[in-house]
Amino acid sequence: MLLFRAPIPENWLERVLSDLPAVLVDHAHLERKAATSALNLEKYRLLFDRVHELNAIAIEELQHFELVLKLLEERGIPFAEPQPSPWIKGLMRAIRPGVQSQVIDHLVVCALIEGRSCEKFQILGRELASRDPQLASFYQSLVESEGNHYATYLLMARHIDAAETDRRLDWFLDLDAELIRQPNPKVMLH
Ligand SMILES: [Fe+2]
Ligand SMILES: [Fe+2]
Repeated sequence: MLLFRAPIPENWLERVLSDLPAVLVDHAHLERKAATSALNLEKYRLLFDRVHELNAIAIEELQHFELVLKLLEERGIPFAEPQPSPWIKGLMRAIRPGVQSQVIDHLVVCALIEGRSCEKFQILGRELASRDPQLASFYQSLVESEGNHYATYLLMARHIDAAETDRRLDWFLDLDAELIRQPNPKVMLH
């Protein structure tokens, strides 16, 4: 269902499995940032009629954030500072200014972040099944929701301008493929 042009690097899973506590802290911040992103999209005039849908996404992401915080507490892992993601930064930096171009780019970037999360949660749901069943089912439980966010953001962008969205999606998919290949030694989801 997802359109990505580059696979997740092979060493990503190995790196992530080597330090699950760090992954959970990073994941908590990822959900916090996803809630913030949904709220930030409400600043665009072209999305004023989507404010309830965006609030619903923000609420869902905050619920995910709460679930990850609960896992951290259960496992005695302290909540810690966020680490910057070069992949997310690289995508965000490419958002163009302009009334319509900014909102379309921002939605496409949010969709790609949701889509990569969905893809990675699927992998974690599968790969953790034998070593950490609780975490595996947690990741499986998030796949559908993040997949829906991916689709919702793309549909919102296409509703504004379908042809421009497809053009920008094509462009951002190439950027994603380039950025995801950059080595990132840190243990993080993205
Ligand atoms: Fe989420
Ligand atoms: Fe999401």
